[in-house]
Amino acid sequence: MANPLSRTVMVTGSSRGLGLEIVRQLAVADNPPKVIIATCRNPDKATELQALARDHQQIKVIKFDVVDYKSLPSVVEEVKAAVGSLGLNLLVNNAGIMEKCSTQMFGVPLQDLEPQMFRNVLETNTIAPLMLIKALLPQLRVAAAATSGPAGAPRAMVVNISSIMASMGTFLDRHGIYAYRSSKTALNMVTKILAEDPEMKGLLFVAIHPGWVRTDMGTTVAPLRAEDSVSQMLRVVANINEKQNGVLLNYDGSVLPW
Ligand SMILES: NC(=O)c1ccc[n+]([C@@H]2O[C@H](COP(=O)([O-])OP(=O)(O)OC[C@H]3O[C@@H](n4cnc5c(N)ncnc54)[C@H](OP(=O)(O)O)[C@@H]3O)[C@@H](O)[C@H]2O)c1
Repeated sequence: MANPLSRTVMVTGSSRGLGLEIVRQLAVADNPPKVIIATCRNPDKATELQALARDHQQIKVIKFDVVDYKSLPSVVEEVKAAVGSLGLNLLVNNAGIMEKCSTQMFGVPLQDLEPQMFRNVLETNTIAPLMLIKALLPQLRVAAAATSGPAGAPRAMVVNISSIMASMGTFLDRHGIYAYRSSKTALNMVTKILAEDPEMKGLLFVAIHPGWVRTDMGTTVAPLRAEDSVSQMLRVVANINEKQNGVLLNYDGSVLPW
């Protein structure tokens, strides 16, 4: 990424799936970020991430369960120590969950959906990313102030990994999946509110749909490989400009309706 965003990056949920692949592709890029903070809730079990971190010294693995808000102050301190005076140029809110049951591939039928299932999904997919953004605003602002780049290129930004299943305008014909789809729609609104907030001047916020990808969440029947989804998303992110603040992008760079 020949872009100011190639300086310091943080990715949540990096133990597997898209998060792990984002970290891997950033680390092996021609012009890799100076610091890649890869967070996961169980570093001891994240063996692929740990192997990657051994090979690429710019990867710093931090233990972080995104819904453990009490840990935020210490996570922020670890981020500060890792990025130093550069601040944080790019936060990727990737960690996410979907409600599950044994009778269907995605989601839970309404008759089996319990309030706590919905709350858990909303907590991880919507509230946690917003609380992390709030905690990291000072670091994002440091990066925005410290970075120079081409006119219109963002100096610090947040990418919220969303889903086309949350697009009310597209409304894919997938029945059920009440909690997941609603939580990502709420994440989209969070993205838009932040993008329009005058207090966030200098920062850029976008939501991205990674495509339907072969991961534990996407399942083996998904058409896209994680490698292909991530390479396209990273190209899109590297070329984002300020005019795209507050949009929902597809992984190929096209704009999706909210
Ligand atoms: N795959 C798709 O087709 C698809 C489509 C649209 C959007 N997405 C979105 O893309 C993102 C990544 O999905 P994926 O397909 O890579 O899913 P995945 O393979 O199921 O991986 C999910 C990742 O999120 C982490 N995670 C979950 N809850 C967490 C928590 N409380 N704290 C920290 N980490 C947590 C998991 O960590 P553990 O290993 O500790 O469980 C794991 O690293 C999600 O936001 C998902 O909604 C995926």
